[in-house]
Amino acid sequence: MDVFRIEGPVRLSGAVSVNGSKNASLPIMAATILAAGKSTLKSVPHLSDITVCGELLGQLGCKLTRSANGDLCMDSTVIDNYVGDYEIVRKMRASICILGPLLARCGRARVSMPGGCAIGDRPVNLHLRGLEALGAEIHLDGGYIVAEAPKGLRGAEVFMGGPFGSTVLGTANILTAATLAKGRTVIESAACEPEVADLANCLNKMGAKISGIGSPRLTIEGVKELEGVEYEVIADRIEAGTFMAAAAITSSEVQVRNCRLDDMMAVVHKLRSIGVTVEANGCGCTVAADGSVKPADITTQPYPGFPTDLQAQFMALLSLADGNSVIIEKVFPDRYMHVAELNRMAADLRKEGPVVIVAGVKKLIAAPVMASDLRASAALVLAGLAAEGTTTINRVYHIDRGYEKIEERLNPLGAKIVRESV
Ligand code: EPU
Repeated sequence: MDVFRIEGPVRLSGAVSVNGSKNASLPIMAATILAAGKSTLKSVPHLSDITVCGELLGQLGCKLTRSANGDLCMDSTVIDNYVGDYEIVRKMRASICILGPLLARCGRARVSMPGGCAIGDRPVNLHLRGLEALGAEIHLDGGYIVAEAPKGLRGAEVFMGGPFGSTVLGTANILTAATLAKGRTVIESAACEPEVADLANCLNKMGAKISGIGSPRLTIEGVKELEGVEYEVIADRIEAGTFMAAAAITSSEVQVRNCRLDDMMAVVHKLRSIGVTVEANGCGCTVAADGSVKPADITTQPYPGFPTDLQAQFMALLSLADGNSVIIEKVFPDRYMHVAELNRMAADLRKEGPVVIVAGVKKLIAAPVMASDLRASAALVLAGLAAEGTTTINRVYHIDRGYEKIEERLNPLGAKIVRESV
């Protein structure tokens, strides 16, 4: 198992490029099985979650290869299995995004019900409700979701709102399934995340008829078939935000290339409000921080609100602010595994239900800490860059799920991160 040893504090300088989005790639990869043909996806990052998704699609019959230039080539001419196996789904709960495409392509799907994870319960009731509205018959059998639509799916009005807003992968499942349904589907309270818009744009390039992309009301006119596609996924706004926070927490100036600031208004606004300069340029931005940052209140919300996937990283940043901050997690109220670990590094964080009060401290002090989930781990890396001494992060496989060789991308900027196998 790998660990990171991070020596701090460091100053960063230079440029870093953001990779393609993991959370756009996963549902788009799954959606390509809607077409009985070949697709080529560009800018799909080399991450363990992508490998797991590839294995899952491979079990369904899809043939995947990486070309010499890194493109992901997928051949879904034959899909001869409709089972999403527990052994794979338990490794990555985003595997649920095969449910809609599989049901639309094969008329049936048997996909392991994802369990909870380090960030909370994560039910899939809204996915199932939406597919039922499209005419699927659904029951549970031995821990598997069994969905059947022998006569095909039919368009319907589907409301996707839930207690915590809409659902990203739920919207992806209904959207993909509706592309091949008979008639018109209207998804109301659809997730507006840029990753959902990217999926919809890719589906339209495959021949789907989706309008309202990026809005909470998606209208889909069902078509008879879709074609294979060549498509480039968008840049990862969460990776971009993590690099921006890295610049801020180390009081540095860093150019973040290949980032779509338009998708990141809430994050940019928050950085500016705490005294960090963010200047747009060509294909990205320059982020500069000078000394300590001001405190802030952050409430995570579905897009276009502040993303839950950057909550942990901004908590690390605000732990060094000049005063008290309040963080409220409204998407995954239990997503706070990093609180205790940051406190081990001398942060002063107090959790009260879905709220964390962050009392700014003058410095963080290195300690051995445990990565618990992807974004929590990223927060620990940021804290390690700023802390005095050598921070050891255990279980870095969590980071590898969503950041491609993060140490090789931060070290050229001046970070001192060593990966060791123990
Ligand atoms: N929810 C329900 N019922 C459902 C589905 C969701 O109550 O049927 C609740 C969830 O429990 C949560 C809220 O709705 O409270 C939002 O969850 P959502 O379904 O939108 O999450 P997701 O689609 O499973 C994706 C990302 C997550 C990201 C969330 C929120 C992927 C592969 N995953 O998950 O990314 O945090 O949207 O933006 O796209 C990450 O990258 O680290 C990550 C966890």
